[in-house]
Amino acid sequence: MKFFILFTTLLVGVLGANISNISIANNPAARLICYYDSSSFSREGLGKLTTTDLEPALQFCSHMVYGYAGLHNDNSKLISLNQNLDLDAGKGHFRTITNFKKKYPHLKILLGVGGGRDENPEKYLSMLEASVNRMAFINSAHALVKTYNFDGIDLGWQFPPNKPKKIRGSIGKFWKGFKKIFSGDSVLDEKAEEHKEEFTALVRELKNAFRPEGFSVSLTVLPNVNSSIFIDVNAIVNYLDFVTLAAFDFQTPTRNPKEADFPAPLYELNERNPEHNVNYQVQYWLNGHCPATKINVGIAAYGRAWKMSSDSGITGVPPIPETEGEAPAGLSSLTPGFLSWPEVCSKLPNPSNSHLKGADAPLRRVGDPTKRFGTYAYRIPDDNGEHGMWVGYEDADTAGNKASYVRAKGLGGIALFDLSHDDFGGRCTGDRYPLLRAAKARL
Ligand SMILES: *[C@@H]1O[C@H](CO)[C@@H](O)[C@H](O)[C@H]1NC(C)=O
Repeated sequence: MKFFILFTTLLVGVLGANISNISIANNPAARLICYYDSSSFSREGLGKLTTTDLEPALQFCSHMVYGYAGLHNDNSKLISLNQNLDLDAGKGHFRTITNFKKKYPHLKILLGVGGGRDENPEKYLSMLEASVNRMAFINSAHALVKTYNFDGIDLGWQFPPNKPKKIRGSIGKFWKGFKKIFSGDSVLDEKAEEHKEEFTALVRELKNAFRPEGFSVSLTVLPNVNSSIFIDVNAIVNYLDFVTLAAFDFQTPTRNPKEADFPAPLYELNERNPEHNVNYQVQYWLNGHCPATKINVGIAAYGRAWKMSSDSGITGVPPIPETEGEAPAGLSSLTPGFLSWPEVCSKLPNPSNSHLKGADAPLRRVGDPTKRFGTYAYRIPDDNGEHGMWVGYEDADTAGNKASYVRAKGLGGIALFDLSHDDFGGRCTGDRYPLLRAAKARL
């Protein structure tokens, strides 16, 4: 019998591979969580993601996290952070999106909280301190979920992120004995222990309130949030349907302006940053007795781009020294140091840019045969020191590698941050949502 099942699985695998190159014996239970930043609906130009553009993704997503709701500044109630878009009577976006469940019945849609988009992150700690605030939050969350037909809440709780490690420049070298000063080890939160317990209480109370109607409660650990400081993994996991580790943005040009490096490596790059990789974060949760199937690995559908200077060397091999902060913004995402996947793609060598010069000259692309660190592309500065760029990014290959990692470790799934940064228009290769598809194919 066992042999028969194995044989059938292999056969289906082989046939599947012939029929379509994306259906190689997927694990059907694996989650594919699609983060959807609804503010992308209001963008101008090529960055605008319409509801029609959204549809080709929905067949792949098991869950969508609608971003974002946030905390009321005074009373801790959960509120829309974009009321004009979300709530507008009759044709509000909350309802437009949850109505997609009629056409895609497998899809679960969660209301995302915080996600790094709410102002005054301090209130995410202070509200925890009184049970009356937690109650106000829970009651308002329950009402929003029920009224707008969401399936639950995803807590992208805005704990304070780690401070970046400083790079030792020439002055730093002199001071290197004073390690504390330069390693950014200062205390993030004096009351961290207390807040950790209170956060467990919040999640427990929220889950208890949601249980009768089967609403789900999940957690997103935002980039650079240190789980060991704020989250009691062992105590909290029973109340969570799953947790998504946004294990990317470890190095960014905003946090680390003077040194470019892989933003989201799967494994340890060097001894200096042993925690700055996906595997460390996953292992931390596993060690805290979180079941593997509850853990989703988040991947960024964008690159982080630094300006290379004349002193950054010519090899492009990271870490790149003496960078000058954020590279210029992309044409549609308009954010310095940040390039969505289609924006990165348009800078890689292709027939239409091969003869261009200066700021439009193609970057040189370097893949990752080790499958451990990620991929990057760069352009060394010209003779005047202009137009240098180094970008570390996720492409279909590396997104697929992370999905393979998830599958090999028996984890719960992959989460894409977010749909609006993937190539939803198919501008790069003609395929819409290539990163999402690649992840789905290898889960
Ligand atoms: C996270 O916090 C622990 C202490 O709880 C500390 O040892 C570790 O270095 C911190 N990680 C980062 C990346 O700051």
